[in-house]
Amino acid sequence: MIQLAGLTKRYGNFTAVAGMDLAVRRGELFGLLGPNGAGKTTTLRMIAGILQPTAGTITIGGVSLAGDPVAAKSRLGFIPDRPFIYEKLTGTEFLRFVAGLYGQGGDEIDRRGEELLALFDLMDWKDELVESYSHGMRQKLIIASAFVHRPEVIVVDEPMVGLDPKAARLLKDLFRAYVDRGNTIVMSTHTLEVAETLCDRIAIVQNGRIAAMGTMSELRSSTGYDSGLEDIFLRLTGEKAGRTALEVLSV
Ligand SMILES: Nc1ncnc2c1ncn2[C@@H]1O[C@H](COP(=O)(O)OP(=O)(O)OP(=O)(O)O)[C@@H](O)[C@H]1O
Ligand SMILES: [Mg+2]
Repeated sequence: MIQLAGLTKRYGNFTAVAGMDLAVRRGELFGLLGPNGAGKTTTLRMIAGILQPTAGTITIGGVSLAGDPVAAKSRLGFIPDRPFIYEKLTGTEFLRFVAGLYGQGGDEIDRRGEELLALFDLMDWKDELVESYSHGMRQKLIIASAFVHRPEVIVVDEPMVGLDPKAARLLKDLFRAYVDRGNTIVMSTHTLEVAETLCDRIAIVQNGRIAAMGTMSELRSSTGYDSGLEDIFLRLTGEKAGRTALEVLSV
């Protein structure tokens, strides 16, 4: 459903994403893990069509993103890590606005919007301006907005940040139900528990490259680390601390 071939992003001399090849299947929930600065957000923004690759190709459902951006993007919803919402719109208006960007509207969209707002406990706030929303409420509204036009593919950058435990659980259930219906999600996360329990396959990204990829059991056997994801992650990404925290505090 999502195909990356030689995907590369350079900023001047610095290579943020270095020739990434990846195929995410229809119906799959695919997780990107990796240290800060590994290139996850850059990759997701290129897939979502809001950042131009330096080289390489992206195909969404067989449609080239560069060749036919409108057709490719119409199948896609994006949940950014630092979302922008117009403060002077209400929750309901924001969902209508996003659906409108995809050329959709009317009673069906309003009904679906209300179902999503209800799911995330936002019905009491639907007619209030976004400027009065808390951080988590904004996050829930952004998540709702990605689902409202029924995309086949959702690209999500660290969706759990700022959500309370109930909302985080809801999101996991929503993602799982959504892919079980044949849709596709690619997400980044730092929450290893989420990756381990929710994702069908995982890629560990480091320095703009995929260091390891597969199901949990494939990762265990390909890395030879017969342990939890935290150990596999830390050993693969070579997180060798210079000074320990204790040493630094006693300087
Ligand atoms: N606009 C930019 N100009 C220059 N360098 C950039 C730009 N955007 C990102 N980078 C660099 O590209 C690298 C990858 O950044 P990216 O945001 O993709 O990392 P990430 O894996 O999402 O990290 P995190 O886990 O902290 O969110 C970083 O070194 C970052 O400094
Ligand atoms: Mg990021």
